[in-house]
Amino acid sequence: MSENKKITVTSPLLPKLEDFIPMLQDIWDRKWLTNNGHYHQELEKALAEYLGVEYISLFTNGTLPLITSLQALKITGEVITTPYSFVATTHSIWWNGLKPVFVDVDEATGNINPEKIEAAITPHTTAIMPVHVYGTPCNMERIQEIADIYGLKIIYDAAHAFGVRVNGQSILKAGDISTLSFHATKVYNTIEGGALICHDAATKKRIDYLKNFGFADETTVVAPGINSKMDEVRAAYGLLNLKQVDGAIAKRKAVAEKYRAALKDVPGIRYLNDIEGVRHNYAYFPIFVSKEYGISRDALYEKLKEHNIYGRRYFYPLISTFSAYKGLESARPENLPIAHKLADQVLCLPMFAGLSNIDAERVIDIILNKR
Ligand SMILES: Cc1ncc(COP(=O)(O)O)c(C=O)c1O
Repeated sequence: MSENKKITVTSPLLPKLEDFIPMLQDIWDRKWLTNNGHYHQELEKALAEYLGVEYISLFTNGTLPLITSLQALKITGEVITTPYSFVATTHSIWWNGLKPVFVDVDEATGNINPEKIEAAITPHTTAIMPVHVYGTPCNMERIQEIADIYGLKIIYDAAHAFGVRVNGQSILKAGDISTLSFHATKVYNTIEGGALICHDAATKKRIDYLKNFGFADETTVVAPGINSKMDEVRAAYGLLNLKQVDGAIAKRKAVAEKYRAALKDVPGIRYLNDIEGVRHNYAYFPIFVSKEYGISRDALYEKLKEHNIYGRRYFYPLISTFSAYKGLESARPENLPIAHKLADQVLCLPMFAGLSNIDAERVIDIILNKR
């Protein structure tokens, strides 16, 4: 394998083209391309079963279910969230005309620190939007306790957490709503796509109206909805990818184990370990580079690039530093020391099902030898 072959941080899980073509033929024959078509219904059923949830609605990406969940639950005022995420989390709050309130994260996981939530609650707070960062489960029990005491809704951004279970239970069962992203870079993808998981039939019905302009029937519009429907082509593609996602997660696990074994005694390099009772999905392999490593995170990032290896500083910069949010009181760096520390240390290494041993070894070699 050439030393110069480009290694990207991720690479999409693709179904076999020869399996997809007959499905495309069938879609052509049916002449029904979107609006709750045959494959859409099949994928909803198959995902509900795979994920172990009862009520799931498909979306056209992973951002619109976040936006729609805030609408569906009629959230007002302020929403407590984390700055250590992808921008879509906070943007969904902003797009609803709500105020995001940032709370610092837990250093061990990168997830919102539940012990800092109460201090951020005001009379205007109505919801909490945590993120299961890198697929690591949040402290869901503690967050629920706080939500119950203060009468708050919880919307989990579970974009990274496809297939993650705690003690055999899907983490998508926590809170009032959870959302998934099926973007091409995710563990499970429908090219672009996403889903919203809720816990009762009435809420699902409302969500399904909202993602289709608010139409309840041909002549009734019950709310100012949006268009966020998944089409038949991507639903069919999604059915094929679902069949191979467990195999892909197993391969990702093998990559994670290889990285961990190789990096375990490197001073200044920390990584996330498996947690007992959790079925992880190995969505990302973040390392956190501290002073003892000898060169900075950015120097390592550049060094990998020199060798045609593209890690990603995910999540850097923090959402709270972007122009739309940096003026918020809760965005002040002194309020978010741990999130800033992680953002300055993190580097996600190449992680995908098709990453070869030789390529993983190239990445490891550079980290070990800093050459
Ligand atoms: C944490 C998080 N939330 C939301 C999203 C948005 O999902 P999408 O790109 O499918 O709109 C992503 C990924 O892109 C994400 O990583």
